[in-house]
Amino acid sequence: MDVHVTTIRAMPEDARLVKTSHGELTLEEIAELLPGTGEIMQSVGLAWWKCAYAARAGNWALASYFARRVRGLQRKLAIVRPKYVGDLEAFEVERLAPVLAACDGGDAASFERAYGAAVDRANELHVKWGKAFIRWVLPDKPPTDLDLDAR
Ligand code: HEM
Repeated sequence: MDVHVTTIRAMPEDARLVKTSHGELTLEEIAELLPGTGEIMQSVGLAWWKCAYAARAGNWALASYFARRVRGLQRKLAIVRPKYVGDLEAFEVERLAPVLAACDGGDAASFERAYGAAVDRANELHVKWGKAFIRWVLPDKPPTDLDLDAR
């Protein structure tokens, strides 16, 4: 990994090109094309919605799957947008871990408490980062693209 990066760094600026079947892209262009905060958060919102309804259906394996999807997406966000690292790490430890623990224990009351606390913190962070107009709320309908009873 290090060797590869060193090799690329040693190349002249105009050689930092990646060939595709459609043409050539610079590494910078590729980096800019990675999903940004909005795209990642949209996926977070979907997984988070499904997590709640899976838990309410008593499908703890599915609820846990979606909570881990959120964790994985937020870890990717920390890589592409390092300015959020501190908040994302704290969110994972303080807000996501209790949700996952409730899923592991199949504890509905703990789940609702932890889930609500995580939503409150997420919305506080939206305010902190200048997006007070983004206030996430749990949709009042369950997802229709999944059988929540599938085990
Ligand atoms: C489960 C927790 C969370 C949920 C459900 C959630 C949900 C959302 C949603 C639905 C959006 C709008 C996405 C769109 O553009 O379509 C958004 C945006 C955003 N979220 Fe979250 N979020 C969560 C946690 C966090 C955390 C921990 C941070 C930490 C920094 C954060 C920072 C942001 C920011 C900065 C935006 C604005 C997007 C942009 O700048 O393009 N969110 N969030």
